[in-house]
Amino acid sequence: MSATIVRRDIRVASLADLKERERIVLDVEGTELGLYFYLDEVRAWYNVCPHQGGPVCQGKTMARTIQLVRDDLKSGGPGHHPTDRNIVCPWHGFEFNLLTGRHTTDETVRLRPIPVRVDGDDVIVTV
Ligand code: FES
Repeated sequence: MSATIVRRDIRVASLADLKERERIVLDVEGTELGLYFYLDEVRAWYNVCPHQGGPVCQGKTMARTIQLVRDDLKSGGPGHHPTDRNIVCPWHGFEFNLLTGRHTTDETVRLRPIPVRVDGDDVIVTV
């Protein structure tokens, strides 16, 4: 006998509310997830860090730190990427690209996505 996994679509937010708040962390029938709106894109990630299981979606978001280079090719010190934004896990500081879920330096480490779509003003996840 094999188990059957039943998934279903659930409306979790209005797009207008998500746009205003930019991030909503919620529990959908026992599944904790983070819902994000950034650069006109919507993403949903499981609220489980791939490092040691921390509540990654409850971490702050910030522009990706980059090394600036001056015209004379010397270091201009640290700066921030104009569009890349990372989620910073509150437990140990691992950073993940908000839109791709990828860890900043290790491509094998990434957040687990939850299927999400927008229908009119409804943001719907499949869990
Ligand atoms: S659990 Fe997220 S960085 Fe360690």
